[in-house]
Formats: sequence, C-alpha cells, structure tokens
Amino acid sequence: MIQRPKGTEDIFPEEIYRWQYIEKKLRGRASLYGFTEMRFPVFEYTELFSRSVGESSDIVGKEMYTFNDKGGRSITLRPEGTAGAVRAALQGGLLSGNFPLPQKIWYNIAAYRYENVQKGRLREFHQFGAEVFGPASPYADAELISFASQIFKDFELKDINLEINSIGCPECRNKYAEALRKYFGEHDDLCETCKTRLKTNPMRILDCKSPVCKKIAENAPIILDYICENCKNHFDILKSTLDSLKVAYTVNPRIVRGLDYYTKTVFEFVAAGVGTQGTVLGGGRYDGLVEEIGGKPTPALGFAMGIERLLLAMTEQGIEIPKPDGIEYYIGDTGGEAEHKKAMEIAAGLRSIGKTAELDIFNRSVKAQMKYADKIGAKKAFIIGENECETGVIKLKNMKTGEETITNIEDLIKNG
Ligand code: HAM
Repeated sequence: MIQRPKGTEDIFPEEIYRWQYIEKKLRGRASLYGFTEMRFPVFEYTELFSRSVGESSDIVGKEMYTFNDKGGRSITLRPEGTAGAVRAALQGGLLSGNFPLPQKIWYNIAAYRYENVQKGRLREFHQFGAEVFGPASPYADAELISFASQIFKDFELKDINLEINSIGCPECRNKYAEALRKYFGEHDDLCETCKTRLKTNPMRILDCKSPVCKKIAENAPIILDYICENCKNHFDILKSTLDSLKVAYTVNPRIVRGLDYYTKTVFEFVAAGVGTQGTVLGGGRYDGLVEEIGGKPTPALGFAMGIERLLLAMTEQGIEIPKPDGIEYYIGDTGGEAEHKKAMEIAAGLRSIGKTAELDIFNRSVKAQMKYADKIGAKKAFIIGENECETGVIKLKNMKTGEETITNIEDLIKNG
C-alpha cells in the first residue's frame, strides 16, 4: 500500500472537530482584533523566499521544497506565510495608498519544510498567522502580542511563556555581527555550518543545535548591548505597554528567530511539556521586508502559530476540546421500497428545518440499523414500517434514556 510521505499527517473525521474548534475560535478572535482573512498560493517563485526568509537561513538553505515547473521556472512550496502575504499585499495594491493603513490580515495555511521529522516537527504543517502592514509604533507590537497572548487564553493554555527580544535595526545588527565574529572567531571547534555562518550571518550561530556550538554560544555577546537609542526606546515602550496590559513576558536576549527578515521586536510563546518543539508561536517586526520585495518602505509585523503544536500542547495539558453533537435523528426502515422512500422524505423534511438526520443506505436489518444509530451517537431514532407509512404516526425513541414518545410525522417535520 502506498504510504503518506514522511512528515505529513492525515486528519480523520473523528478528530477533525478539534481542528474546526480551533479554527473557529481563531477566526472569531482575529475578527475582534480587526483582522480579515487573506488567501494566497501554496507555491511561489523561489526567489520570493530566498529574498525574504534569507539565503543564510536554514529554511532557504536546507528545508525548501523547490522544483522546476514544466516552464523551467523555479517554484517553491511555501515554507511560511509572511513572504506570500507581503507579495500578495503588494501585488493587490493593499499598500499602494488606495487602502487605509494599517492593513491587518490573517491566514490559515499549510506550509512545507524539509525538516528532521519528530514530535511537533513536520514537513507539512499548518500555521495560523497574522500580519499588520503600516505602523512603526511600538504600540502596534504590544497590540499584536496581546492578540497572540489572548489566543492562548482562549484555549485555556496555562504553562505558556512569552519571551521577547529586540534584534535591532540593520545598523545595530552590523555592530552586533562584528562583535559575534570576534567572539566566535576565537573558537575553532564550531561546527562546519557555523564556520560558514561566521562569514554569512553570525547571528545564526546562536540558533545552532550542535551541543558544542550551543555551549560556546552561552557566553556570546548579547544583542541588547548593541542596539541603538531608537531601537532601545522602541523596546522600552513595548515592555512598559505589555506591563500595563498585564501581559507577562520574559526578556530572552538569545531569541534571534530562524528567518532573516526581522528587525527590532521578536517574540516567541513557548509551551511547557511539548519537548524541544515547545515554540508554539513566533513572530516579530519586519520593517525592511516590504521594500525588499519591491514595495515602498512600509513597517510591518506579524506572527504565526503552529496548529499541530497548539494541539499537542493542549493534549499535554489535558485541555479537552468539546466534541460536536451527534446526529439528531436516525430514521430506520423495515426494508420495503415505500418505507425507504418515506424515510428519505422525512429526512429531507427534517434537514429542511435545520435538523441533522441520517437513514439507512445499506438495506441493513432493523437491528443493525439501530446498532449503527447508537454508534454514531444519534440522539433520537425511529423506524418506518408499513404501519407508520399508513398512519403517519411514529414511535420516537430517545437513545439516551430509552424513553419512547408517540409522534405525528407531520408535526415532527414542522417542529423537529
Ligand atoms: P516560524 O517560527 O518559523 O515563523 O514558525 C511559526 C510557528 O510555526 C512555529 O512557532 C511553530 O509552531 C510552527 N512550525 C514551524 N515549523 C514547523 C514544523 N516543521 N512543524 C510543525 N510546526 C512548525 C514563521 O513562520 C514566521 N512567518 C512568523 C511570522 C509571521 N513572523 C512575522 N509574521
């Protein structure tokens, strides 16, 4: 039998309610914050990601699903949503001055990264993301972060920590890169990849998973000692606003994020008990990206949350997702053509007044039909036989209590 590709998951009917519950809540919460959904393609020209996520990132360097299409163009399955969202916003003229700023959009997408598969780390995964185009003010950062933190409250997640940092503007980062080059340059035992990173983007070394590099990185200079007055001021206002909003956070100067487009604020929400893949949500400001992709300089910021990781964290913390109601009516029949047609007619009537109804499409015995009704959690059931067809009266059984009531079919179809 053909298996699904490694790192992908099937979502089966019996678990889809968990996804739908999450998606519905996220949609509702996003709309309360004034965000509107945007949809954009699963694949883009490769250049979009190499220019935005960055050549020196692991994502572009190692993890993209890239292929040439039949026209010989290099295409990549999106490894994340921000690049596509910015490209679409620009192409659709959302940032052209014809639309009010800020533009606030959300998306719910599948994304693709060729990763080492483990719990919470997939090759096809899903992100709920939000992006804000326009504002440079740190209050926008605080507003976005409080939106993200509200999401975790909505899902009643407890052990979730917000970690924030500032990685400054390109000028601060140049100074910081110099300091890192000096520090890491004195360590010959860096891994081979980090030796390259030393030249291309030394900040990436701080993200290296190799134990030796990790150990060396522990004493590396921290960015917060290198950020300029303007970036520092931005970060200070963000922190004091989060304080006044009572959004708890810790400053983690080690957060650098795995994508190259960030400027100033970066943040992550890390859940306890989800193992090494505890980062459920990550985001930050990316003031240079719109211009990089060909637009006018436009400050922007956003975040994305991994739905699989959110589900994992909820499961680990024993948070129950309410199961949807079962079917309301199961209509059995004794097998004759007239009975079967009558059952179908009643089902159609019930559905037309918004009641869920199922019937036998197997020609099973009445006993087997009732067993099935029980299995699918039908709340009420009745059988259409010759007698019921003639009199229009049925015995409606409450499947939970076993109680039976005599009911007129016409009344049932009218009032449910
Ligand atoms: P990211 O940190 O790469 O950021 O991904 C965001 C979230 O997606 C992660 O925190 C994690 O929950 C989930 N995720 C990432 N990779 C995987 C994977 N292989 N398997 C399962 N879940 C995964 C971004 O993607 C940025 N675009 C976020 C952003 C939006 N920044 C600004 N706007």
